[in-house]
Amino acid sequence: MAPLSKGGTVAVTGSAGFIGGWVVRLLLDKGYRVRACVRDANDERKTGFLKAMPGHTSGRLTLHSADLNEAGCFDEIFKGCQGVAHLSHVSTYEDQDYVKMVCDHVINSVNMSETVSRVVVTSSVAAVMSEQDMQELVLRPVLDEDRYPDEQNPKRRADRGQGYSMGKVLAERTFSGAAASSGRWDAITCCPGDNIGPILSPHQKNFGPWQHHIESMLLGEYLQNVMGAYRPWFTVDVRDTAQAHVLLLESAKVENGQRYISWSTDTPKVEEVCASIDRLLPELGFAGAKLIDPLPPKIQAREAEFRAIWGGCELRNDLIRSTLGMEFRPLDDSIRDCVESLLSVAKVKPSLKPGV
Ligand SMILES: NC(=O)c1ccc[n+]([C@@H]2O[C@H](COP(=O)([O-])OP(=O)(O)OC[C@H]3O[C@@H](n4cnc5c(N)ncnc54)[C@H](OP(=O)(O)O)[C@@H]3O)[C@@H](O)[C@H]2O)c1
Repeated sequence: MAPLSKGGTVAVTGSAGFIGGWVVRLLLDKGYRVRACVRDANDERKTGFLKAMPGHTSGRLTLHSADLNEAGCFDEIFKGCQGVAHLSHVSTYEDQDYVKMVCDHVINSVNMSETVSRVVVTSSVAAVMSEQDMQELVLRPVLDEDRYPDEQNPKRRADRGQGYSMGKVLAERTFSGAAASSGRWDAITCCPGDNIGPILSPHQKNFGPWQHHIESMLLGEYLQNVMGAYRPWFTVDVRDTAQAHVLLLESAKVENGQRYISWSTDTPKVEEVCASIDRLLPELGFAGAKLIDPLPPKIQAREAEFRAIWGGCELRNDLIRSTLGMEFRPLDDSIRDCVESLLSVAKVKPSLKPGV
């Protein structure tokens, strides 16, 4: 399909979000016209940072209210766009019929637009590696674009915590199937790892969960894990993920149905992330934080086993690097910039050493 033309128009769903906000900003920096889709354009708390972007003053960036639960919500917004970056979450991942329905809402609007030639769909590494049975990671430890979770496992069900992973796989296939049927547009998937880096608006500190984890560290207490078991962070800078989206919109080398993992292949433990705050910003006087481990005793007993399984996995990002020429930022830069944005943008008050 034809890549974006210089100065062309791109609609971004989930523009008020952590990654979506950065995609909007990078598209503007590269000279595109951007239609930022949010649920409520009048919600200043979530949209103020978009309206403060210089492109909004000139009209190159416009904001549009759209709730993807409503059929037809993007019909008018997508008309005249060449690209769509679909970053929005959905209201729930527990109901796969609902996930399919909201995919169809977006797809119908793309089809009606008569102009969109490329859609980048934001999936997740959960659609690559979220396993109901951890032994599957021992059998298939290479985490690359060809890998999907074991979909034959009868316990792979939304009520066993797999709804997000299942919903993302479903969305990837629904979009690429619809694109193939249309013949006019293609759908390329981006699967990001655990995004950290600077927030652009105070409300973004509450989502994540990774930037929210770092906020908890700054406040003095943080959890071992929010994913239900021991696993390292599989980090990527939010600016790199945003760049991956823009490059996927632009690339003439990518093809319908392909997926690209966006992660640096760094795998820090949560304790290492916390310890690096004082190492990177000694001037701050950060007091450190207490690690809380809320995992049930039967999971705690398997800590060494889970850590060994993740340690045996091989994270790959050679496809995105070779196809798009991507380089990933060092983890330290992402942590430093995340912390500084939490302090300066969200006014987080960190726990400090006595006397600081
Ligand atoms: N953050 C990560 O580390 C990570 C990792 C892997 C994959 N991802 C994927 O990347 C995408 C963006 O993640 P994020 O962290 O940037 O999320 P986020 O900060 O929570 O933002 C997501 C946005 O989705 C929008 N949204 C939710 N329900 C909606 C609905 N019914 N209709 C329209 N918009 C709706 C919200 O819009 P409003 O604010 O306008 O209400 C919200 O701003 C998601 O698809 C997520 O699954 C994220």
